[in-house]
Amino acid sequence: MDSPKELAEWTELQMHWQEMSSVHMRDLFAVDDQRFDRYSLEACGLLFDYSKNIINSKTLDLLTSLADRRGLATKIQQMFSGEPINFTEQRPALHIALRNRTDYPIAVNGKDVMPDVDRVLQQMRIFTEAVRSGEWLGYSGKRITDVVNIGIGGSHLGPMMVTKALKPYHHPDLGFHFVSNIDGTHLTETLKKLNPETTLFIVSSKSFTTQETLSNAHAARRWLLSGIKDGGQVARHFVAVSANSKKVAAFGINPDNMFSIWDWVGGRYSVWSAIGLPIAIAIGMDQFVEFLNGAREMDQHFRTADFSQNMPVIMAMLGVWYNNFASINNHAIMPYDQYLRLLPDYLQQTDMESNGKGKHANGDDVTISTGPIIWGSVGADAQHAYFQLFHQGRQSTTCDFIVPVRSHNELGDHHQKLLANCLAQTEALLMGRSAHQVQHEMRLAGYPGDEIKRLLPHRTFSGNRPSNTILMEQITPATLGSLIALYEHKIFVQGVIWGINSFDQWGVELGKELAGVILAEMKGQSSEASHDCSTMNLVRYCQLVRGDTKPAAMKLDKPLTGYKMTGSQHSTGPTLE
Ligand code: F6P
Repeated sequence: MDSPKELAEWTELQMHWQEMSSVHMRDLFAVDDQRFDRYSLEACGLLFDYSKNIINSKTLDLLTSLADRRGLATKIQQMFSGEPINFTEQRPALHIALRNRTDYPIAVNGKDVMPDVDRVLQQMRIFTEAVRSGEWLGYSGKRITDVVNIGIGGSHLGPMMVTKALKPYHHPDLGFHFVSNIDGTHLTETLKKLNPETTLFIVSSKSFTTQETLSNAHAARRWLLSGIKDGGQVARHFVAVSANSKKVAAFGINPDNMFSIWDWVGGRYSVWSAIGLPIAIAIGMDQFVEFLNGAREMDQHFRTADFSQNMPVIMAMLGVWYNNFASINNHAIMPYDQYLRLLPDYLQQTDMESNGKGKHANGDDVTISTGPIIWGSVGADAQHAYFQLFHQGRQSTTCDFIVPVRSHNELGDHHQKLLANCLAQTEALLMGRSAHQVQHEMRLAGYPGDEIKRLLPHRTFSGNRPSNTILMEQITPATLGSLIALYEHKIFVQGVIWGINSFDQWGVELGKELAGVILAEMKGQSSEASHDCSTMNLVRYCQLVRGDTKPAAMKLDKPLTGYKMTGSQHSTGPTLE
């Protein structure tokens, strides 16, 4: 696929934005009391209200025409039938197969993948039941009390976000911990609280070559072994999730304790696979299947609903509308639910690693804006941090507000207050506050005329700031599954419109390679590599301050000032070595 820019539909949308950019949503609501009915829909346990957007029926018609012109229906079909839509790596992106509980066959290179998916789900069931029931014992005969997932990116964010989001469904006697960072602090602080006798590690890495994960896994094994006389007992404490059985075996994990994933599962789309093992241990396999079922329901909806009633398609096309025609290139996601607090972090990877791309399928440079910057955090805290900028700042942001109608922890009227805050924000962003209104309110409050005049400009705000609102009755495994799948499909649709590959991630490779070179230099190994003078001096500064490289290998262009060089005593020895 190439650029959509030359299409007539694109040009029409550009012209249409010229019309709509002077429209205020307040006026759209004023003339249409059916606007909510017209621009909201319910599916898969989610209510999606998109009426607070700068759109009319023409906007949606034009966006749908663009989707048609980009062959979206065919692309969806290709995804669901296992075609190699990840065209740079020549493989399918088949997260939908992982939740295909109806088991219709999905073939990759002529082989139905469903029997493998079912086999691993069954393996997960047996294992999770053994851990949850206390049948699975640690080396000293004690039952497991803590599970530590070691992974990064998609092998970390998904399992962590979902495990934390589904806390009300957890096994009461098991604790869950997630270690990702190569910064030794992460593992050290996590292990401080744990007992090796009762700790189970899940090493999660599709490739099983990721530096951060492997380093943490080795350090965790050393920690465990320091207390065990019989090294063979390590098997009771380490399992792996990976597509690379050779590397897993080389690490020393028993192949019986490995849960397979496949190259057709993208890292950031892998939470539905055995990468979701911590979730399954936490909530039990039946609830994990409910989580898959929720996603499958969204898959069905996405695959079958007309685009005009299709939640992921509408959400995606609204994103295209703002990103490409209104030049709003960032999108904030605010879950109003403490359990969902990590959702923005998770969606950051899903979206930005998928659609932060600069080449079309034919290799041409992309000259339109693709993936927006995704950010956000939990409401109501977010209101007291950056919402000021939403309401009166010069930067524009589009927002998703996500809130369950019922809390798992109904505490007095807390949840009604939370709901009220969430809905009030969407209203304030829409309506703003006019000078006339402010004047009236200040007069009623008894402000003197000159004070009203002085404060009037500061107390007015324009409104007309777009947002979506997503409600569900409660966060359950199924509604969470639907919600995540909604975003996954939205991202896919946008990738199709922009003509990019949403399923590769070449951009993260360069940094990884250069880190390998710098690491060797940090360790004092000579290198052929040359660096720019900034990087070179920063490397040398670190070497000098740490003092763990031979002085002969170092020279700073500028001498270090104000730093007392005391050599290796500055390097804090890792406690896990
Ligand atoms: O950062 C790039 C990336 O490949 C992500 O796409 C992936 O989720 C993460 O690294 C972890 O990879 P792995 O599961 O192979 O350790």
